[in-house]
Amino acid sequence: MKAAVTTKAGNPEVIQLQVVPKPKVKDGWVRIQVKAFGLNRSELFTRRGDSLGVDFPRIQGIECVGIVDEDPSNTYPKGQQVAAIMGGMGRFYDGGYAEYTLVPLEIVFPFKSKLDWDILGAIPEMFQTVSGSLNQALEIQSGETQLIRGGTSSIGMLACQLAKTKGLSVVSTSRNPDKVKHLKDNGADHVVLETGTISESVREIFPDGVNKVLELIGTRTLKDSLKCIAPRGVVCMTGILGNEWTIQEFTPMGDIPSLGKLTVYMGVSKNLSKSLLQEFIDEVESGNIRLNIDHVFGLDELAIAHQYMEDNKAKGKIVVRP
Ligand SMILES: NC(=O)c1ccc[n+]([C@@H]2O[C@H](COP(=O)([O-])OP(=O)(O)OC[C@H]3O[C@@H](n4cnc5c(N)ncnc54)[C@H](OP(=O)(O)O)[C@@H]3O)[C@@H](O)[C@H]2O)c1
Repeated sequence: MKAAVTTKAGNPEVIQLQVVPKPKVKDGWVRIQVKAFGLNRSELFTRRGDSLGVDFPRIQGIECVGIVDEDPSNTYPKGQQVAAIMGGMGRFYDGGYAEYTLVPLEIVFPFKSKLDWDILGAIPEMFQTVSGSLNQALEIQSGETQLIRGGTSSIGMLACQLAKTKGLSVVSTSRNPDKVKHLKDNGADHVVLETGTISESVREIFPDGVNKVLELIGTRTLKDSLKCIAPRGVVCMTGILGNEWTIQEFTPMGDIPSLGKLTVYMGVSKNLSKSLLQEFIDEVESGNIRLNIDHVFGLDELAIAHQYMEDNKAKGKIVVRP
């Protein structure tokens, strides 16, 4: 089979298209014929050699959608549409950047859909992250106000749509004035240009602050996000687009407002229920949710796709079709 193999840690060119043996089936694992997969920022870190415990060469890819090729447990018939996410896929064993992948049964999610594989490929990890952050970490409620920092990211764009569907007022951010219309067209009620310190601008819109903040830029803007919350508000750090892992100086009793809450979301496959994924796919199929697919690359273009993501050229999800 063809696979995009990350030959060693390094720049995008270390990913090379190779012909490798098709993975052999074994008990408790399912072989999937990969039809599409979304590209994820964490895969850039893994490629650079920043993910602990990852050896090279490795076929990366922490998610995929496709059809069951062989399942020795007979849980799923050949041809069943499935998604696979996380669980060490593409890190500790070979993942989705290939024509076939072999994954543990417990990270396989069946579904039924007539949507194009391009669209389906964008869904699993993006939906798991947004749904987990908004519903489990932030516990969003109708009528609340929400700030999304890193609003033009694929996670930010979907988060805005789900928050709007649930009846929240949304402020979304971008560093780029050219993307304001893009955010408004996606449903944001207000757009604030990201400068690193936006709490005053947010309070011009909502003088008491916002109830919930989805922090996708990370530690660089986290302290400022805590300044944006209303009494008893919650900040959830889900992303690290700012590429900085630690906060140099953090004074809990100064930086977290009294009764305010700070949490994080680090999703794993068990955070997503099988029925929830099918329900979301049905919402997309019925047109209630509009996914932003920026570009679809081929398996032979993985290095280009990694560079494209690294250069922040996308205005939505990057998908790859083997
Ligand atoms: N916790 C979890 O379980 C989980 C799961 C999946 C993803 N994530 C994280 O969620 C975040 C979003 O992922 P994604 O795949 O949706 O990202 P993405 O689509 O690749 O995000 C691209 C956008 O990020 C913004 N950006 C890039 N560098 C930035 C910086 N230094 N400061 C501020 N904004 C910056 C740019 O927006 P502008 O140019 O418009 O400002 C760009 O349009 C990532 O950090 C990812 O690692 C977390």
